[in-house]
Amino acid sequence: MQEKKLSQKSAQVGDNNAQSSTDIWREFVNGTTLHGIRYVFMRRQIFIRLIWMIMLLSSGGYYISTVYGAFAKYYDRPVTTLVSRNRLKEMDFPAVTICPLNLFTKSKIFMKDDDPLFASSGLNISTCAVTAEVRGNRPCGLSILCCCFPADLETDLPFCESQYKQVLLKVMLQQSNRLDVENFFRLYSQNTTSMIGPLCTFGWDDAACSPADFVPVVTPWGMCFTFNSGTDNEVKISKTAGVSSGLSVILDAQTLEYTQGKFSEGFKVLIHGQGEYIDEWEGINVGPGQHVVISLSQKRYQNLEKPYATNCTKKELNTYFTYTTEGCLYECLADNVINYCGCRPAGYKVTSGTPGCISSEELLCVEQIAGTADSFIKSGYYADKQYQSMERKSELQDLQ
Ligand SMILES: *[C@@H]1O[C@H](CO)[C@@H](O)[C@H](O)[C@H]1NC(C)=O
Ligand SMILES: *[C@@H]1O[C@H](CO)[C@@H](O)[C@H](O)[C@H]1NC(C)=O
Ligand SMILES: *[C@@H]1O[C@H](CO)[C@@H](O)[C@H](O)[C@H]1NC(C)=O
Repeated sequence: MQEKKLSQKSAQVGDNNAQSSTDIWREFVNGTTLHGIRYVFMRRQIFIRLIWMIMLLSSGGYYISTVYGAFAKYYDRPVTTLVSRNRLKEMDFPAVTICPLNLFTKSKIFMKDDDPLFASSGLNISTCAVTAEVRGNRPCGLSILCCCFPADLETDLPFCESQYKQVLLKVMLQQSNRLDVENFFRLYSQNTTSMIGPLCTFGWDDAACSPADFVPVVTPWGMCFTFNSGTDNEVKISKTAGVSSGLSVILDAQTLEYTQGKFSEGFKVLIHGQGEYIDEWEGINVGPGQHVVISLSQKRYQNLEKPYATNCTKKELNTYFTYTTEGCLYECLADNVINYCGCRPAGYKVTSGTPGCISSEELLCVEQIAGTADSFIKSGYYADKQYQSMERKSELQDLQ
């Protein structure tokens, strides 16, 4: 009985098979979440159904092509960061500053007024002319070192008694003469002709260079001479890498001419960008008898201005044509020295007639100002100045 019932039922199902598959399809298209498909199969005008079909097919096609595109992109292994090497054909050669470690040349310091070289080398500076009478036969350079140059000389100066010192100072005061420190450094130091020795070449083709290519710079620690300083708006170009395409120079330390050294004999060599502030103490010491090879690699940083997150502003320095943070700090210090000590650090080029710092009191004041550097770095004065739009750094890589 039960069996019969079952078979009847299955027969019924079999009978309705053709009809129910269209029903199922209808049910499916009416209930499917694939939007729009039911409008294609709805019983209504064929034209509207056709439009629905076209819309459905085109959006479906668009969907498939997007998915395909996304997969294709993924399997393309795309790169989002691009690092490429740019081979430069030529590069600006940096400035090379050479500072003799000897402040004054012995033969000039001990030169008497009647020596024909005294006038011809320009050693007759105003302080010499003013003190000529009281000095008598005593050399001018030596007298200046005695009275007015508060430095620890390696040897005791002859003639330099306190009475003589007073006499010299009195005469200078009477004539309202003040030692021009920069001139004194410039004229009484080792000159470039005797320093830049028998060899000076630049570049792969060994173009000759001469002492005239070295621009003298006065610093608070004596004279320095800069090759390729860029002050004449001409920067030398290096076309090949390697030691032989740089500057080769033999320097004459003239150790017999030493008076006051800076802890050792020889030279300081600094490599820096054109127009940048230099701190002699950051240089490399080159002693007599040494062959030094310095190779360089350059890193360039560009700080982006305002619309970028770095929010940098373009700042210019008063006395250096290339901005560096150290140069900015130095200028702030120098300005403070002018304000508080009434003198300027030797070599600081400002147009006003402020004299160079020279007396012991002035130098003490300079030292005190330098000691306050930390506090004014914290104050806005320096912070305001420290942003720059472009800073270039040469990095010393290898020293042999
Ligand atoms: C130095 O210069 C002064 C004037 O500037 C001059 O009178 C004097 O004769 C000069 N001394 C020598 C040794 O040339
Ligand atoms: C430098 O010194 C040499 C001799 O040592 C001399 O002939 C030359 O005139 C000097 N140059 C200057 C600018 O003083
Ligand atoms: C950028 O710097 C200026 C002043 O120099 C300041 O007013 C501004 O808020 C800074 N913007 C950002 C995003 O730091």
